[in-house]
Amino acid sequence: MCGIVGYVGSQSALEVVLAGLRRLEYRGYDSAGVAVLADGGIAAAKKSGKLVNLEKALVDRPLPAGATGIGHTRWATHGGPTDANAHPHLDNAGRVAVVHNGIIENFAELRAELAARGHALTSETDTEVVAHLLAEEFSGRADLAAAMRLVCRRLKGAFTLVAVHADAPDVVVGARRNSPLVVGVGEGEAFLASDVAAFIAHTRSAVELGQDQVVEVRRDGAAGGVGVAVTDFDGRPADVRHFRVDWDAAAAEKGGHASFMHKEIAEQPRAVADTLLGRIGADGELILDELRIPAAELREVDKVVVVACGTAFHAGLIAKYAIEHWTRIPCEVELASEFRYRDPILDARSLVVAVSQSGETMDTLMALRHAREQGSRVLAICNTNGSTIPRESDAVLYTHAGPEVAVASTKAFLTQLVACYLVALYLGQARGTKWGDEVLGVVRDLADIAGAVERVLADMEPVRALARSLAGAGTVLFLGRHVGYPVALEGALKLKELAYMHAEGFAAGELKHGPIALVEEGLPVVVVVPSPRGRSVLHDKIVSNIQEIRARGARTIVIAEEGDEAVVPCADHVVWVPVTPTLLQPLVTTVPLQVFACELAVARGNEVDQPRNLAKSVTVE
Ligand code: AGP
Repeated sequence: MCGIVGYVGSQSALEVVLAGLRRLEYRGYDSAGVAVLADGGIAAAKKSGKLVNLEKALVDRPLPAGATGIGHTRWATHGGPTDANAHPHLDNAGRVAVVHNGIIENFAELRAELAARGHALTSETDTEVVAHLLAEEFSGRADLAAAMRLVCRRLKGAFTLVAVHADAPDVVVGARRNSPLVVGVGEGEAFLASDVAAFIAHTRSAVELGQDQVVEVRRDGAAGGVGVAVTDFDGRPADVRHFRVDWDAAAAEKGGHASFMHKEIAEQPRAVADTLLGRIGADGELILDELRIPAAELREVDKVVVVACGTAFHAGLIAKYAIEHWTRIPCEVELASEFRYRDPILDARSLVVAVSQSGETMDTLMALRHAREQGSRVLAICNTNGSTIPRESDAVLYTHAGPEVAVASTKAFLTQLVACYLVALYLGQARGTKWGDEVLGVVRDLADIAGAVERVLADMEPVRALARSLAGAGTVLFLGRHVGYPVALEGALKLKELAYMHAEGFAAGELKHGPIALVEEGLPVVVVVPSPRGRSVLHDKIVSNIQEIRARGARTIVIAEEGDEAVVPCADHVVWVPVTPTLLQPLVTTVPLQVFACELAVARGNEVDQPRNLAKSVTVE
C-alpha cells in the first residue's frame, strides 16, 4: 500500500504534493519522491527512508517552481527501499514520470519486451515498466490519457497509476484497477490521491473512480479552471460518483474508520487478495520465484521449523497443519524467544521459516541467526520489504498487507497464513506430494477467501453488541480443536492486548485435564468449531465440550460454519462463518475474534491503536 498525490492548478505543486504526502505517510514510509513539470521538462527528486529524508534533500537541491506535479510514499513490494526503487519512475528520456500503488503481475514479461526494444530499466520495481510504456504510447499521439488507456490494457494485477508528461504541462492522468484513486476538485485546481486525506485541506468536493477507469485533470489556462474527464480503459466516457468529504484530516488517514485497528480489520480482504497477486500462474500453478530456493534443495528438506513470536507464532501453529498434511515433512513451531536456548537439532536439511510482520523482532532475528550458524536454510515470511529479518535470510516471501499501523496485528496475521499456505503448497509441489491439480484446487480455494472474509465482516454487528455486553467481564476463555486451537490462542491474545482483560486459549480436548475447573456460572467461553464435513469426529467432540461447559454454567459463544445446526442447542450465541476448507478455516474464524476484542476494548475506553505497555516492533530480546 503506498501514498499517491497528483496536482494541477495554480499553487506550488511541490508544496501541495509534499503536504499531501505527509497526510499519506502512514500508507508507506520506505521511500518518497516528487516530480514537478517546469521549464519544459520534468524535475524529480526521490529518497529512501521517511518523507523527511526527501524534504531534507529538497532543501539542499530545490526543484524549480511548477504548478503541475506528482508524488509518492512507498511501501515496497517489488525491490527494496532504495533511492533507485523510489517513485516517481521516469522513462529514459526523462519526459514521463509515473507513481504507482499496487502490484503489476506481468511486469517481468513487460520488462523483457522493453529491454528488447532498447529501453534501459534502472530499478528493481514493477512500476518502472509503466514509465517506458507510457513514453512509447505517448510518442505517437501526444495524448497522455489515451496513452494511459493503452498501457492499462496491457497490465495485469492491481494498480493505481498517476503520471505526467513534459509535453503536457497542464495535465495529470490517473488510472485504477483494484486499488484506490480519488479526485479532489477545487477552485481552478484538481488533485489525484490514494485517499482524501491528501487534499481535504484544499477541497472537500471529490470524485471516486470506478474499476478500470482513467481520469484526466487538465488546467484550462484561458478559463482559469480545471477540467476532469473520466473514461473506461477503452475510451468510453464513464459515470462517476461525486461526493462531499465530511471527515476531518485525522479521520481521513484512517479511511473514515474510528482507528487504524478498525481500518486494518476492514482491509483484510484486500490484503489477502494482494498477497496472492502475481503468485498464481495462468494454469493455477504456484509462482514463487522470489523464494529463490531451488526446487532440488526443497526436495532435500527433511524438517521444517517455524520460529516466530506472538501473533506470528500463532500463524506458525496453523501453518504446521498445512505443511505436514501437504508435504509429509515434520514441522516444529517454536517461540523464537525459546528456540536457541533449547539447543535445537538443526542441519543443512532443516528449513527454518521466520515469520514476522515488522521484520525487526529481535527474538526472531536471533533465532534465525542461530539457525544459519547450524547450517540451516532460512526462509522469511515478512510484511516489511528490506527489513532486517528478510535481509538476513536466504529467501523471503513477502506478504502484501500494506503498512500495519495498529500495534495489535490483524491483517498481517491473515496474510501470514496465506503466505504459509503458499510455502506449504510450494514445498508439496516441489516434492511431488501434491499434484498440480491438487495445488490448483487449494489455490482456487485461497482465491475465494477474500470474498469469504468480506462476508464475515459484513455481518459483525451482533459480535460488536455481544462484546459491548461483556465489557464488564473478568475473563474470557477460548477453545478450539485442530487448526481452531491456534485461532483460540490468537483470540485470547487479541483480548489481552486490546481490552487488558485476562483471557486464555485452550485446546478443547485439554478442558477435562484441568481448565474445566475454571468454568462457573456466566463465564464467557468462545468456542471455534471445526467443520462438520470431513473430520466429523473432531466436530462431534467439540460439541460435547460445549455441552460440558454449558452444563456448568458457561455462556457459550460459538464460531461455526454456516449450516452447522448441531451447535445451536448448546450455544448462547452463534457467529456463522462461510463454509471453508478445513485447513483454511482460520482465515475466516479469526476475524470475528478480532472484531470482538476490538469492540470490547473500545467499550472499555481503551486506545486500540497503541495499547498500553506494547510496541509495534519489539527490537529487544
Ligand atoms: C500481535 O498482535 C502483537 N502485536 C505481537 O504479538 C506481534 O505479533 C509479535 O510481537 C511479533 O511481531 P512481528 O510479527 O513483527 O515479528
